Amino acid sequence: MYSRIVIVFTLFVALEAGSAHYVTQERVCFPESFQFGVATASYQIEGAWNVSGKGESIWDSYTHMYPERIFDHKTGDVAADSYHLFKEDVKLMVKLGVQYYRFSISWPRILPNGLSNEINKDGIRYYNELMDELIQNNIQPMVTMYHWDLPKSLQELGGWTNPIIADYFVDYARVLFNNFGNKVSAWLTFNEPLSFCQGGYGGLDAPGDQASGFEDYLCGHNVLRAHGMVYRMYQEEFEAKLLTSVGITLDFSWLEPAMESLEDKIAAETARQFFFGWFAHPIFSSIGDYPQIMRKRIDSISKKQGFHRSRLPYFTTEEIEMIRGSADFLGLNHYTTYLVAKSKKKISSEPSFAADMGGIISQKSSWPKSNSTWLKVVPWGFRLSLNWVKRAYNNPLVVITENGVSLEKGLLDKRRIEYIDGYLKALHTAITKDHCNVYGYTYWSLIDNFEWTRGYSERFGLYQVDFDSPNKTRKPRISSEYYARVARTKCLPIWDF
Ligand SMILES: *[C@@H]1O[C@H](CO)[C@@H](O)[C@H](O)[C@H]1NC(C)=O
Ligand SMILES: *[C@@H]1O[C@H](CO)[C@@H](O)[C@H](O)[C@H]1NC(C)=O
Ligand SMILES: *[C@@H]1O[C@H](CO)[C@@H](O)[C@H](O)[C@H]1NC(C)=O
Repeated sequence: MYSRIVIVFTLFVALEAGSAHYVTQERVCFPESFQFGVATASYQIEGAWNVSGKGESIWDSYTHMYPERIFDHKTGDVAADSYHLFKEDVKLMVKLGVQYYRFSISWPRILPNGLSNEINKDGIRYYNELMDELIQNNIQPMVTMYHWDLPKSLQELGGWTNPIIADYFVDYARVLFNNFGNKVSAWLTFNEPLSFCQGGYGGLDAPGDQASGFEDYLCGHNVLRAHGMVYRMYQEEFEAKLLTSVGITLDFSWLEPAMESLEDKIAAETARQFFFGWFAHPIFSSIGDYPQIMRKRIDSISKKQGFHRSRLPYFTTEEIEMIRGSADFLGLNHYTTYLVAKSKKKISSEPSFAADMGGIISQKSSWPKSNSTWLKVVPWGFRLSLNWVKRAYNNPLVVITENGVSLEKGLLDKRRIEYIDGYLKALHTAITKDHCNVYGYTYWSLIDNFEWTRGYSERFGLYQVDFDSPNKTRKPRISSEYYARVARTKCLPIWDF
């Protein structure tokens, strides 16, 4: 009772400016062992794109070459300048009281030309200092090896469409384990292969190849091989001496049938297999390999289109075994929900992921909006996603590696509190009622950052960044007070505006 009174009192004071107050009611509490964190990614926050030996990444060259493809024509050259301001960022995390920080390492900051013959000392220094600062403050580093900033020199070889990249990725990962292995509590090989393979090779994210239904599958194939190879290398060379774990982050938006018809139910399940099973099934299912429905549809459509081989490559039997089970845990990014209806369109000769998948994707206009066109607020989809994962892959260990919402600039972000609160309640139900095996939740993002082709227009931060100020001034939003309560008490504060 004593602690509750203290909590309510401090919240009242902290949130006065936001004209919010908290009332005492029954509380939603997570297990004591449950961990709360915040996330960022190198290109989105670091800046310092060309300093101290760093090589160019595909996002450096893409934003420089095609400013018109970025909403506000801006770049990540300086971003939130976290390369210089990381100590300030760690202070923000200390204020939040989070147990861990998920950030990514910039491959070209470590290996300027992508290959391990030349290691950039300044890159090793920077991440060592960041990790030391975190550890001194009792915040565990959780590190993503690849969050989309591929060395440009490797893109010139075809990037993720070239099979050799899996070997280069293993070399890069070995440099990371060797230099940071004893400081990192959990590793993620990749962040959202669905997003960067579809966006980068089938759309307008860097490198912008726009070859949907073809290059995106080549990318996915090599990412899966690279992931499996890193995991097996880790097991052979590092597992015995490092106290860490290795997983992968996959994004899974919930996909709900548009209508209660059998057709739409089948279309929605097919879409889940295409959007999520594509990467999850080879690693987390008991049989491995691509989902059967994906194999069947792409093989058959490729044939009808006159291709002599399927546009979805085949794994060898050895590769299937190498990739199957190659993760200690699943990192799950979840933001929103879509509706799926069966597409009635005739298959054209033009390859595309959408045609292969065969569903029409939409969202209900009545769902609450965010500042991103794709992100509607649908907390119940979170619980359904977690239950689907539990059923499909025998209840794997899951960490929510991203969840969050974009809103327009401003410090009184009551709607962000509502978003987090709603999604955390759905997560709580999934854990306590449905027994989904989830042991951590990461809010995206600690600070406002460069949101890829949306530039600085969409803000996800618990802290606002003034990108026009020379110091990139960080200011707390009221959601940071809310999240600090959550991270410190592991209970949702009862609040009422
Ligand atoms: C780095 O890039 C900035 C622009 O962001 C430019 O002004 C500066 O001259 C560059 N520095 C080097 C060493 O190339
Ligand atoms: C997000 O906010 C920016 C800046 O206020 C605005 O220009 C943009 O249209 C908004 N986007 C959406 C999807 O609401
Ligand atoms: C920026 O930071 C410097 C060094 O910490 C400080 O002296 C200066 O007052 C700051 N400027 C602004 C506008 O906050």
